[in-house]
Amino acid sequence: MAKKVLFYNGKGGVGKTTLAVNYAIRSKSDFYTNDPDLGTADHYQDIIERTNSFYRIAPNDEELEVSDKAVFDFGGGLDPRLLNLIKHLDLCVIPIRYKSVVDITSLLKMVDLISEHNTNIAIVINDTKKKWIEGLKAQLEKAYKGKIPVFIVSESEHIAKLPSEKKTVDDLANEFVLFRHSTKSVREQFDKLFNYIMEY
Ligand SMILES: Nc1ncnc2c1ncn2[C@@H]1O[C@H](COP(=O)(O)OP(=O)(O)OP(=O)(O)O)[C@@H](O)[C@H]1O
Ligand SMILES: [Mg+2]
Repeated sequence: MAKKVLFYNGKGGVGKTTLAVNYAIRSKSDFYTNDPDLGTADHYQDIIERTNSFYRIAPNDEELEVSDKAVFDFGGGLDPRLLNLIKHLDLCVIPIRYKSVVDITSLLKMVDLISEHNTNIAIVINDTKKKWIEGLKAQLEKAYKGKIPVFIVSESEHIAKLPSEKKTVDDLANEFVLFRHSTKSVREQFDKLFNYIMEY
């Protein structure tokens, strides 16, 4: 099991926090975020704190004390502190939300930089228009010769509503039957990614 996992993209609004909080809650990990206040993570602080710790990291904080089982939800630049953390991680997950070719060039640069410090990388195509997904996945798998797995989490109104309802993806599995059915495929996508991380 990957015990120290980072969800990172230098770009905002790609789904870092959505994936990270749901994975942290499912795997009962401590949660570290550098999101500013009132981001997606805040909706989950009390849920995480039922079993684990929730840490908000400020830009000028001293060295991080990291617990054995930790999920990091980081945005911003790949500064020396973050690169140093990356060296000690089991897995780096990069969510992307594809809108234009710029997103791909920045992804390729990010992967290049991260892989100088840690080659355990996975990519998630999140919240992206259906027509782009398969072509993009094939292109990335070809570019990385299958060495970097590419997961998909579809654009879903059910996922978008989770923070305001303070629900996790796993809560969706316990809804009444008709609703449960309408969330089945996106729940399976989360399971595929999360099982990969847990079995890593
Ligand atoms: N698969 C999805 N389908 C629909 N909405 C989604 C999906 N993933 C994330 N979202 C929504 O997109 C928004 C951005 O997601 P999130 O906060 O997880 O991104 P982030 O990368 O952490 O952003 P930030 O850089 O602001 O911290 C949120 O409102 C979230 O609910
Ligand atoms: Mg965030």
